[in-house]
Amino acid sequence: MATSVKLPVSEFAADVWAGLRAVNQKKLPPKYFYDDLGSKLFEAITLLPEYGLSRADERVLARCAESVAARVQRPCVVAELGSGSGKKTSHILGALNVPELKYYPIDVSSEALSTCSRELGKLALVEPIMGDYFHGLECLSRKRPAKSQLLLLFLGSTIGNLERSEQREFLRAVRRRLRPGDLFLIGADLVKDVDRMLVAYDDPANVTAAFNLNLLARINRELQANFDLRCFVHEAVWNPAERRMEMYLVSREEQDVRVGALDLTVHFREGESIWTESSHKFTVEELETLAKDSEFEVLDQWGDSEWPLIETLWRA
Ligand code: AVJ
Repeated sequence: MATSVKLPVSEFAADVWAGLRAVNQKKLPPKYFYDDLGSKLFEAITLLPEYGLSRADERVLARCAESVAARVQRPCVVAELGSGSGKKTSHILGALNVPELKYYPIDVSSEALSTCSRELGKLALVEPIMGDYFHGLECLSRKRPAKSQLLLLFLGSTIGNLERSEQREFLRAVRRRLRPGDLFLIGADLVKDVDRMLVAYDDPANVTAAFNLNLLARINRELQANFDLRCFVHEAVWNPAERRMEMYLVSREEQDVRVGALDLTVHFREGESIWTESSHKFTVEELETLAKDSEFEVLDQWGDSEWPLIETLWRA
């Protein structure tokens, strides 16, 4: 029987293939953290005293919801990029107080979307869109009523996972899919004390380490690999030039790992790493520049006194 090269069967397989075969720096995209276990581990991170971002995000949303709602014209619809379970969105939907309000959560996780529909079903007519952001925005432009104003949400500093060069392109691409007058609310984590950032991404209970290592466990589960999680160490570093936290998984020793589904053997030198995430931190000025460069007008912004973070409301 002739042997043939196995083609990657899914986007995940293709990205793992490309990321682990890189000659310089092995790299895996952070969106793959969020399988069922990974989503639970992220929920646990949001409860850590050291990781103030999610609590600050929710606190500020609770505080600004009325002001955001006051900017929204009727009729309106709400959509959210990367809604997750949608917990913090309840403040906005509640403040809008529109009967039969349509809310379109856009997410890659079907689990997250069903939690979201359950949790927010009392506040809105939830119409989940499963898929990536641009697929979601395309669907949305077909589904939304002709005269409605859109309030688009992008919360929790998810924008920080994009490279700086990608952020502007991403925002421009979003802008092209909006109508003039549509609103865009973005939550972005701000640059803060380095020690606070380091411990937020390397907590003493090792929850973030488990979240990071779960990516290897996911490759074991879904792509029949044999990563020994004990042979990798979680590492979080602050990159001052790029103003971002970076997470790595560092090989403790020289080793070979098999990824069965890809018919691939990956070699690791001692100390060689896989780069798994960048979490960019912002300044208020930088966000204003991003708004201008992507043709949005900044309407308002709200901050937090405990954990430097900003919710910024833009108009297309
Ligand atoms: C959900 C992408 C905003 O970058 O801070 C938490 C994910 N990574 N701890 C972040 C995360 C490590 C988080 N985001």
